[in-house]
Amino acid sequence: MSEEEAKREQQHTTAPPVSSKRKIYRDAKEQSRKKQVRIEPPQQDTPSSITTTASLEQPSDEVKLPQKRFYRQRAHSNPFSDHALDYPRSPQLMDWSQIYPHINTATNNKQVEIADIGCGFGGLLIDLGPAFSETLILGMEIRVQVTQYVEDRILALRHQHAENAYKYDNIGVIRGNAMKFLPNFFARGQLRKIFFCFPDPHFKQRKHKARIVTNTLLSEYAFVLREGGVIYTITDVEDLHEWMVKHLDEHPLFERLSKEWEDQDECVKIMYNSTEEGQKVTRNKGSKWVACYKRLPNPEDCE
Ligand SMILES: C[S@@+](CC[C@H](N)C(=O)[O-])C[C@H]1O[C@@H](n2cnc3c(N)ncnc32)[C@H](O)[C@@H]1O
Repeated sequence: MSEEEAKREQQHTTAPPVSSKRKIYRDAKEQSRKKQVRIEPPQQDTPSSITTTASLEQPSDEVKLPQKRFYRQRAHSNPFSDHALDYPRSPQLMDWSQIYPHINTATNNKQVEIADIGCGFGGLLIDLGPAFSETLILGMEIRVQVTQYVEDRILALRHQHAENAYKYDNIGVIRGNAMKFLPNFFARGQLRKIFFCFPDPHFKQRKHKARIVTNTLLSEYAFVLREGGVIYTITDVEDLHEWMVKHLDEHPLFERLSKEWEDQDECVKIMYNSTEEGQKVTRNKGSKWVACYKRLPNPEDCE
């Protein structure tokens, strides 16, 4: 065997397979994620007891944005499966300082007001962040590796923008199943806006019950959304658009907003172009259907 062949053979036997390369990459990211956020017990007279290595070090180009190819996961996750998910018993027990370590949510009395349900790779969060810099925005995503990608993306952006006026501190992501645990995270009337961007279509009739908009779920969304708050939906699947419109139209606590309202609303413009699925649809020259609904007052509040 020539020296060259021997080298190649050795490389062949020692190089990790692609799947473990992904694992090695994600494990390294996990370590750096753990290092980046250091939350210390509260001390008296300090406005914020939370420090991160990002705030201690100089911003550097070395903190690179994560690479999507290392976070591949099956396209769909069964929302009825028993995933091992962490969730608080009630919204009051949720420790938001893990998600927004630079914002002292307790002293500022800040709570999440915008939610992106099924946020995927986080494009909407990243565009909404600077547009609503005073508001806490949360992405909820069921797939573990996709959530980790968004988390690493936000940490990298915070690091890269540590010296800028806007630092991506008001956006965060959490792994969760919105079909099961939304009221565990959000109190009654807490949210101002809820986004459903390009939700999984679940084409087959027997799978329709897995759609993120159903009668029962709409009542939960109405519970966490305040009066006058807005549900935003966008999809490239006409049948799913009609399904969402039908269910929202039928629900007594929602009223559709007009095309004129959509045309002047900043969030409609942002959601049209910012999500990864939306960008794919644009590249493939597909159509996008939008429907936005206002949360009406509860009947008992009208009397
Ligand atoms: C087609 S992708 C769209 C992602 C993103 N909104 C976009 O437009 O690029 C739908 C996303 O919703 C997530 N998802 C589906 N069911 C969910 C649930 N019950 N709770 C949270 N996320 C969910 C999926 O894992 C997937 O990432």
